[in-house]
Amino acid sequence: MAQGEASAAVSEARQWGRLMEMASFGAIPGDGVNRACLTPLDRAARRRLIGWAQAAGASISIDDAANLWLRRDGTDPTAAPVLTGSHMDTQPNGGRFDGMYGVIAGLEALSALADAGTVCRRPIEVVAWTNEEGGRFAPGCMGSMSWAGLHPLSAWADVTDPDGVRFAGALAEHLADEADLPRRPLGSKPHAYVEAHIEQGPRLEAEGVDIGVVTGIQGSRWFTVTLSGETAHAGTTPLALRRDAVQDMVRAIGALNALMHDPKDVLRFTVGRILVEPNTSNSVPSKASFTVDFRHPDPAVLLARGDAIPGVVQAAVRDAGVAVHENFHVLPLQFDPAVVGAVEAAAAAEGVSALRLPSGAFHDAQFVAAVCPTGMIFVPCRNGVSHNPAEYATPAHLAAGTRVLTHTLVELAT
Ligand code: GLV
Ligand code: MN
Ligand code: MN
Repeated sequence: MAQGEASAAVSEARQWGRLMEMASFGAIPGDGVNRACLTPLDRAARRRLIGWAQAAGASISIDDAANLWLRRDGTDPTAAPVLTGSHMDTQPNGGRFDGMYGVIAGLEALSALADAGTVCRRPIEVVAWTNEEGGRFAPGCMGSMSWAGLHPLSAWADVTDPDGVRFAGALAEHLADEADLPRRPLGSKPHAYVEAHIEQGPRLEAEGVDIGVVTGIQGSRWFTVTLSGETAHAGTTPLALRRDAVQDMVRAIGALNALMHDPKDVLRFTVGRILVEPNTSNSVPSKASFTVDFRHPDPAVLLARGDAIPGVVQAAVRDAGVAVHENFHVLPLQFDPAVVGAVEAAAAAEGVSALRLPSGAFHDAQFVAAVCPTGMIFVPCRNGVSHNPAEYATPAHLAAGTRVLTHTLVELAT
């Protein structure tokens, strides 16, 4: 099989044009994108993807989690497919490349294979996973987790978005709108999975390297902490008589910062979302809730400090009632050496510089790895910036990543 012919057919201009067109669905000031999962914007972007995939000869299907599948058949209909893909949803104040690059790179690989007339033994499938970001419905990676059989979809039915819309309702509405697409069962057994993504960190750019050969992903835990006090008049209620949920939130976050202190700066601890009730300047807050995003590459640290969170919050608050809910828990993961090796060999064959590195961000690949040998390809992004409208990767780096992806897919599918 001539991997080089297909990868040489990768078109930098076509891929960049498609990425820019996708960025128009949910464009926000500063070149950013706000395209939450299962919204009309997400649906419109998916429909555009379907049109391009059909033009490249791919067949389309959708599963019960609304993961969208694009398939190029191989010569052996009994062979397990080689899978690639990523996600199309963005952060509320997100960029043009996080997620969408991996989906468009997969599509570009299919287009290049079609243009080169390359038919592999194994089918090649591109998947757009539902709700990777977790920005609208928490946690993220619902599509890949449920596909991998790690979590039943029904367990997230009552998760609501900030407007009170239930996940089950949004999913059902989306699937009803897409009823013309053939439905496939949730779950399958691919031969291997390779996901392309922007690095979202500064290393590749700083070291002047074209391709990141991703060795694994650190672990992540998400919590929601809810503090319940009592509302009262801000002008009249003595401090000693208050049960002020925000003051207790400040104490709790201070204590968590101490728990998460790491002089080596390996640990990642973020309070990213705060909700306050009644949220008015002249009433004492009755309720404050905040999210914790905690990550570490060492499972022992992830488990010990994560498990300590409820007790540390309880000990820190003075007056409020405390509830701590964990809604995401994924341990650190090493990718399959054979897939890591295939990506590294493909980069060498394509003549681009490469560096092995771990991922600080989580990705759908972390869950697909439970089902089949998995790896990832990173490309540099400017200043390492991501989850930000300023996110940027050059057309040339994005094309190099897709050539390496195409080469790897053909190698694995032969
Ligand atoms: C993915 O978006 C992450 O937060 O790592
Ligand atoms: Mn992503
Ligand atoms: Mn992201």
